[in-house]
Amino acid sequence: MKLTWICTLVVLFQVSSVTLGAEKLQSYNVDRSTITVSGFSSGGGMAMQYHVAFSSEIQGAAIFDGAPFACYKVDFCKNPGKVVVSNLAKEITGLASTKKIDNESNLNGSKVFVFHGTKDTVVDPAFGHKLEKLYQVFGAVTKNEYTIKAVHGFPTNFYGAACGSFSPATHFINNCKYHGSNIAMKHLLGDSLASPASSAEGQLLQYDQTEFGGSAVSSMDPTGYVYIPTGCQDKTRQCKLHIAFHGCLQSKYGS
Ligand SMILES: *[C@@H]1O[C@H](CO)[C@@H](O)[C@H](O)[C@H]1NC(C)=O
Ligand SMILES: *[C@@H]1O[C@H](CO)[C@@H](O)[C@H](O)[C@H]1NC(C)=O
Repeated sequence: MKLTWICTLVVLFQVSSVTLGAEKLQSYNVDRSTITVSGFSSGGGMAMQYHVAFSSEIQGAAIFDGAPFACYKVDFCKNPGKVVVSNLAKEITGLASTKKIDNESNLNGSKVFVFHGTKDTVVDPAFGHKLEKLYQVFGAVTKNEYTIKAVHGFPTNFYGAACGSFSPATHFINNCKYHGSNIAMKHLLGDSLASPASSAEGQLLQYDQTEFGGSAVSSMDPTGYVYIPTGCQDKTRQCKLHIAFHGCLQSKYGS
């Protein structure tokens, strides 16, 4: 049986001086040729930033209810319906030509999944459409889902508030009868991805993120989380790494 093991590294962005004394991240046997990222909301924006900036190292991205690269320039994105994709593309090629980010030609053939609910009133669905078009300028292989009547929330098929119900209480996770994470990962990694297990069998560990820059100043939490599937605990087996960026109000402090 061919199984694709996914290690999930959840990086928390959060201003805080609290440290829980987590241990250093161990080294794992990671297949560097298939590192992928994802994120929801501001985490989705971060996932695209990270993928485009480090395109030589990152092979794919899944963006849920996110915003395009370069929306840090407010003028580009103040009117979601009028985002000019060619301006964003020029920002990318300009940064790459001065080597501030990786060469955009790495994005050619990269896998990208984009989800945006029709009832999202927090991040305009136009942003999802535009960021997909921006990726297509550079030859990314995209797949999208824009038809579900979802509010601003991460879609699952087993947990969360009703799909049309905005829900801080479930950390913006909604049961839309749509297995967002699995569908996205299938696009990023291919059909060799094993079906989800009925219950999580791995270990969710905290690790000290300060050696990677986690501090109050960097706005990245000193503690990160890493999920190690059972099959990846044996370090002779090579595993794929997936990095998930959370959105605003989704950190362990709820901020
Ligand atoms: C980016 O990569 C392409 C293809 O390898 C190459 O032609 C181009 O010169 C590179 N650009 C920079 C700024 O290095
Ligand atoms: C992507 O690469 C293919 C060749 O592998 C090339 O034909 C195509 O023009 C490239 N697309 C972009 C957007 O650079």
